[in-house]
Amino acid sequence: MFDSGFGGLTVARAVLDLLPHEDLVYVGDTGRYPYGPRPLPEVAAFAHQITRHLVDDCGVKLVIVACNTASAAALASLQAEAGVPVLGVIEPGARSLVAATRTGRVGVIGTVGTIASGAYQRAVADTGARVELTCAACPGFVEFVERDETDTDQVHVLAERLLAPVADAKVDTLLLGCTHYPFLARTISDVMGRDVVLVSSADETAFAARSLLYAGSGIGRRPVDAGGRAATHRFVSSGDADWFRRLGARLLGPELADVEPAPWA
Ligand code: DGL
Repeated sequence: MFDSGFGGLTVARAVLDLLPHEDLVYVGDTGRYPYGPRPLPEVAAFAHQITRHLVDDCGVKLVIVACNTASAAALASLQAEAGVPVLGVIEPGARSLVAATRTGRVGVIGTVGTIASGAYQRAVADTGARVELTCAACPGFVEFVERDETDTDQVHVLAERLLAPVADAKVDTLLLGCTHYPFLARTISDVMGRDVVLVSSADETAFAARSLLYAGSGIGRRPVDAGGRAATHRFVSSGDADWFRRLGARLLGPELADVEPAPWA
């Protein structure tokens, strides 16, 4: 799986918990983050390069695009060209959102690229649920997470300003449509109020991966006690590998022990 940086670790955690027998290779493209403000064709080019690395060099059997911006920019073309199944986070997120709402007033927050692409507006409409959707871009949130500033006064002030459209719309459920945002959940919840349900695509994406590996294609790995070997976990960063290891281990957990440099860095 891959993301522009640390955000996809929210999806990695869910995948590790739900699919503990699977080998994981995680690429954090921290040398080129943030993806959100970049033109979508540029993000798509990065996504194709990383997917080729995962498939050709690492031999993965499934790619999870653990980044909403890259999913918005390139999911369809990746699915057409990768040669292995490719899962994004947008459809799973939209499904979780419409399943969780009680009043039908829902919100999605994401990067400028994701929100401007209209990908969530389409994915929510495709669910067929009768909901009133308000979307808001939150430029700057990702940078706070990458700097490990998830609970500062500055991020709180920014959140009050950027979340105003979804707060004013009185949504009862808010989808964190950027994989970095679950790390800001406390600040977002403080601003939105405790009665607003925050939803992320991490769990639903992990369930989609499980269905694909074990129910559909039958390419899931056997557990170690059934004769398989223990799962391996590799982490690759295109930026500062030492920072990725230090902050990543804190955000993800003990599986993130070593970080390899990306071949294109
Ligand atoms: N975590 C990413 C997403 O879900 C990307 C954020 C960024 O690099 O701007 O969109």
